[in-house]
Amino acid sequence: MADLRVNYMGLKLKNPIVISSSPLGENIDKIKCLEENGAAAIVLPSFFEEQALQAELSHSLLYEKDGYRKYLDYYYDVIRDKVTPEKYMSFIKEVKSKTDIPIIGSLNGISVGGWINTAIDMEGAGADGLELNIYYLPTDPEIDGRKIEENYLDLVDEITRSVAIPVGVKIHPYLSSIPYMSRELVRAGANGLVFFNRFYQPDINLENMKIEPMLRLSTSEELRLRIRWAAILFGKVEADIAITGGVHTAQDVIKSIMSGASVTMIASALLERGMGYLPLLLEEIEGWLSNHKYNSLQEIFGIMSHKTTSQPALWERANYLKVLDSYRQEE
Ligand SMILES: Cc1cc2nc3c(=O)[nH]c(=O)nc-3n(C[C@H](O)[C@H](O)[C@H](O)COP(=O)(O)O)c2cc1C
Repeated sequence: MADLRVNYMGLKLKNPIVISSSPLGENIDKIKCLEENGAAAIVLPSFFEEQALQAELSHSLLYEKDGYRKYLDYYYDVIRDKVTPEKYMSFIKEVKSKTDIPIIGSLNGISVGGWINTAIDMEGAGADGLELNIYYLPTDPEIDGRKIEENYLDLVDEITRSVAIPVGVKIHPYLSSIPYMSRELVRAGANGLVFFNRFYQPDINLENMKIEPMLRLSTSEELRLRIRWAAILFGKVEADIAITGGVHTAQDVIKSIMSGASVTMIASALLERGMGYLPLLLEEIEGWLSNHKYNSLQEIFGIMSHKTTSQPALWERANYLKVLDSYRQEE
C-alpha cells in the first residue's frame, strides 16, 4: 500500500483529499459521512464578512463610493438566512467534538475591520486552521490595482497576527502578478496558498430580462490553470500550496501533487457523484502509485514543477510557441 500521507500548513493529513468549502460541509451528518469515506480534512462553508457586519455597512461596499444604498435591501435579503457568528462557532465546536479530522474554518471577506474578531472566535471554537477567501471584483476605474492588493495584504497581516492557527489564503488568478502577490501574502503571514477561486459569471435571461446568477460545477479542464501556477511557485514561496478547481479524478490529484500542491480540495466532483466517490478516488490514487512503483505520494511531490528549470519564464514562452506551432503542423 502506497503511503498517501501529506502535510498541509503544519496539519498532518492521512491523504491529499481535503473537502473544499461548499455545502458538502454544511451539517454534521454530511461531515461525518465525508470523514467515514476517507476525507483527510474539511474546509467548512464560508462565514461571510457581511454576516458579521449585518448591523453596519460592510466596508467592502465603501469601495464603491456612491450608489450602494439601493443595493442594501438586496444585500440583506441575501445574508438574512445565513448563520450568525454564534451559530457558526457552535457548529465548529460540534464538528470538532464529533470528528477526528482537521477542520478548517473559512472566512470570506475583503476589508480590514471589526469582523476580524471572527477569526479569533473560530480559533477559540477549536478550528485547526483558517482559510481566507478574498473575493472582490473591482468595478470602479478610479481604484488602482495596487490599492486593492495592498488591502488584501493588510487583511492577511491582521488576521494572521490575531490567531496562532495556520491560515491559508484562497486567491483568484487575475492578480497583476501571481508570483509577487503570493510572496507578499506569505510575508504577510499566510501559511498556505489556495489556487484558485472561481469567479462566477452571471448570465442574462432574455425572456424575463433579468440577470441570473449562474453556478456551474467545474470540470477537469479547469485544473490546468491551477497546476501551471503550482508548478511555477513550488519551492519559490514558503507556504504550502492547495489546488481547488477542477480536481475530479485520481489523475487530477496525481498531477496536482507532481506540480507541487500539498493537497487538493474538492467540491464539484463530490457534489456530482456523491460521497461514495471518495473511497474510489483514494483507491485509484493508491493504485496509480503502486503501478508506477512509487511507495508514497511524497516521492512524486513537485517532480513536475519548475523548480528544476533555471529560466521558467523562457520555458513558458518557448512552450507557448511550440503549442501554436504544433497546431499548425496538424492542419
Ligand atoms: C455550491 C458551492 C458553494 C461554494 N461555497 C463556497 C464558500 O462558501 N466559500 C468558498 O471559499 N468557496 C466556496 N465554493 C468554492 C469551492 O470551495 C471550490 O473552491 C470551487 O468549487 C472549485 O472546486 P471544484 O472544482 O472542486 O468545485 C463553493 C462552491 C460550490 C460549488
